[in-house]
Amino acid sequence: MYICLPDFMIELKDINYLSTKMLDESRQGEAFAGTAEGKSNNGKYFYIESYGCQMNFSDSEIVASILHSEGYGATRQPEEADLILINTCSIREKAEQTIRNRLKEFRHVKERKKGTLIGVLGCMAERLKSKWLEEEQLVDIVVGPDAYRSLPLLIRQADDGRKAVNVLLSREETYADIAPVRLDSNGVTAFVSIMRGCNNMCTFCVVPFTRGRERSRDAESIVAECTSLFEQGFREVTLLGQNVDSYYYVPPQGEPVTFARLLEKVAQISPLLRIRFSTSHPKDITDEVLWVMARYPNICRYIHLPVQSGSNRILQLMNRTYTREWYKAKVDKIREILPDCGISSDIIAGFCTEQEIDHQDTLDIMKYCRFDMSYMFMYSERPGTLAQRRYKDDVLPEVKKRRLTEIVNLQNRLSLESNRKDIGKIFEVLIEGNSKRSDADWMGRNSQNKVVIFPKNEKKLKPGDYVNVKIHDSTQATLFGELVNE
Ligand code: SAH
Ligand code: SF4
Ligand code: F3S
Repeated sequence: MYICLPDFMIELKDINYLSTKMLDESRQGEAFAGTAEGKSNNGKYFYIESYGCQMNFSDSEIVASILHSEGYGATRQPEEADLILINTCSIREKAEQTIRNRLKEFRHVKERKKGTLIGVLGCMAERLKSKWLEEEQLVDIVVGPDAYRSLPLLIRQADDGRKAVNVLLSREETYADIAPVRLDSNGVTAFVSIMRGCNNMCTFCVVPFTRGRERSRDAESIVAECTSLFEQGFREVTLLGQNVDSYYYVPPQGEPVTFARLLEKVAQISPLLRIRFSTSHPKDITDEVLWVMARYPNICRYIHLPVQSGSNRILQLMNRTYTREWYKAKVDKIREILPDCGISSDIIAGFCTEQEIDHQDTLDIMKYCRFDMSYMFMYSERPGTLAQRRYKDDVLPEVKKRRLTEIVNLQNRLSLESNRKDIGKIFEVLIEGNSKRSDADWMGRNSQNKVVIFPKNEKKLKPGDYVNVKIHDSTQATLFGELVNE
């Protein structure tokens, strides 16, 4: 949505699958580093770089916490680090290629500073396991998404020159007791992991293989983390999971907690704490969740509801378990219960056997749903997935590319139309920081997750404040307005 040239966009997206928030802040591939907590107690420093979805970014904060407990400080400079970590993504082939190239650059760092350890974390670590150590001589440590607690042990092993690999997936691990160290934080918005893994078997997707079985984190620990964030001054939490709507926690005593109930518990922390969540599988988002959203104005009016394709035949091949009619009815329901709700989507162009008529169905459903924003991708075959084993990746690259361009062009038009409709409206905006373009302007978001830019005035405002902004102009990516006193 933010970059019109599809090719460039694919590249950005492949580096990082991020939701709106991080994508339009252009944090792709950016290195994280702690600040105040960055001081080392053991004389050693780590550098961590994260690729992929928000879950990976959130996991890097868990890793940072584990390393801090071991005495490590954080640095923004790989050259200064004793330990370089790269948290990886396998979602598309290009994402993996980007990471391999980045690793090659770290080789030079390691050549200059002997003894520096290089660790591969995340989904690519899980997918390739110890192959890393054979293929890439420079990799010392390989840790899968469920094995971060073993990192200190693995570091010691690698320091002793031994192989250090732990890619065991777990049915229980949620890191519930580890307080994440907020990396590169704006002090206003934070991610909170509520579940891990995925039990859906979308045929194109590598995530169930890299992240393992679905499991939900203890509800009390989630509420405690969100409360603590609020007390520290944070004003927005995004509850994260591959499929948040299937959250289901059964406490040792008491009632099971559904996603709707969890949402409500978090919303009750304070009316001043905004709540977002990502991602919702269309089959799991219940009317109960929509009604809870309707009851609490601090639960943001925004749902990311990936459709993937508008063709029933392709949806079936993808094993998405819904039809286009069912999806459209779900969107109708959202609009009925939450008339002002923003809806965004993920779309894949050129899945196996996709014909022109299927592609037209995708364009058609986009128009029906009037998505405010979408993340759009060309299908990329992933080793080991059901699609790779069962179907032929038979849509020619140039056809995939042309279809993607048409999808992107349509989305650009829909986004512009959606933003044009906002002109004249007044929104409550949570200030996140300075606008990227000018320190004279604030950047914030409305409940629908749209970026709003407006001039600072003489009023003493700061990030974390809520203000009312009247919109007077827009592009397909941004709303522009001015402060009003309502
Ligand atoms: N759990 C989330 C999606 C995580 S992956 C959900 O179900 O919504 C993010 C997006 O990447 C997917 O929604 C899909 O659009 C895209 N994606 C996943 N595998 C892909 C592949 N093999 N090729 C192209 N895009 C893919
Ligand atoms: Fe992948 Fe489907 Fe699970 Fe999302 S719901 S992570 S697309 S398998
Ligand atoms: Fe990528 Fe793994 Fe997330 S494959 S999209 S980092 S779950």
